Amino acid sequence: MSGRSYYSCLIYLGRVFCFVTVLASCDSGELANGTVRPDHSLPDTAAPLDIAQALGSDNSLTLTVALKGSMVLPVATTRESASADIVFDRTSRRIYAVLRATLDQPLDVHIHEGSTGEVGAEVATLYADGGAYTLGDGVTLSARQAELLEAGNLYIDAHTAEFPNGLLRAQLTTTSIDVAVSPSLDDIQAKVFTPICSGCHNGNGQTLPGVMNLTSSERSRASLIGVYSINEPTLLRVEPSNPSDSLLIRKLEGTHEAGSRMPFRGSKLNEQTIASIRDWIVQGAAR
Ligand code: HEC
Repeated sequence: MSGRSYYSCLIYLGRVFCFVTVLASCDSGELANGTVRPDHSLPDTAAPLDIAQALGSDNSLTLTVALKGSMVLPVATTRESASADIVFDRTSRRIYAVLRATLDQPLDVHIHEGSTGEVGAEVATLYADGGAYTLGDGVTLSARQAELLEAGNLYIDAHTAEFPNGLLRAQLTTTSIDVAVSPSLDDIQAKVFTPICSGCHNGNGQTLPGVMNLTSSERSRASLIGVYSINEPTLLRVEPSNPSDSLLIRKLEGTHEAGSRMPFRGSKLNEQTIASIRDWIVQGAAR
């Protein structure tokens, strides 16, 4: 791997991933056996993975997905959950993944082929690294697997001894919100902002995306309602009763003027979801 891709690795998946990368000699040309890269290339704090950092490559797909028992076939009754950050570099067809779960028990974590409601062949296995599970310095997908990913037809799942068919699962896509979103901030928060947006809109820093904090209903309210946009300063992010002039809606529909459609480099939200967010604004953007 070249020095530049090594650097992208760093940017992509942060400390956990890069720690593994270093061990696995991502930059094999420079790292002789057993030689550990000098510390300056590693952030020295155990910072959480920050997918907002994954903006280094122009040709990548970034996804944050929430794994649930309700997505497993047959459905697993569990209150556990997990989330996974995925970065796919379209140029090299390499996929990087980190999954974080709150469970104490060891998990078997895989990426599989299959659309929602389907079980299919295994594509890659994540391995444990500290409290997380990772693909390390990535796995190269075949052209066919890459097409499946782009179409939302790969999924990630976690098995335990007690749940050999799977305990938690999520499709690797942002369009497959499997449940209807109702026009209330709490529901939009739980089904859209938290799982899809808060990895980047995380409250870190004074610039976008971090400064626009979408990590809880309260913070989303404070960041959105009646707050002027940074990139299109004549518009409010959410103007109650006026969805068409609310930048939030324009960014989701792709009718904005500055910057990118949201979610950034992810697939567009489905129409019903955007319609519910519109309705919430039409109804005055209350709770
Ligand atoms: C992978 C990172 C990432 C994700 C995920 C993401 N965003 Fe963003 N967002 C950005 C970046 C970077 C900007 C600034 C550049 C731009 O406007 O395109 C931004 C800007 C915005 C803005 C404009 C803010 C302003 O003041 O101008 C809105 C609104 C927004 N995002 C909404 C969302 C919503 C809603 C979601 C989830 C559905 C989302 N974003 C997901 C990275 C992300």
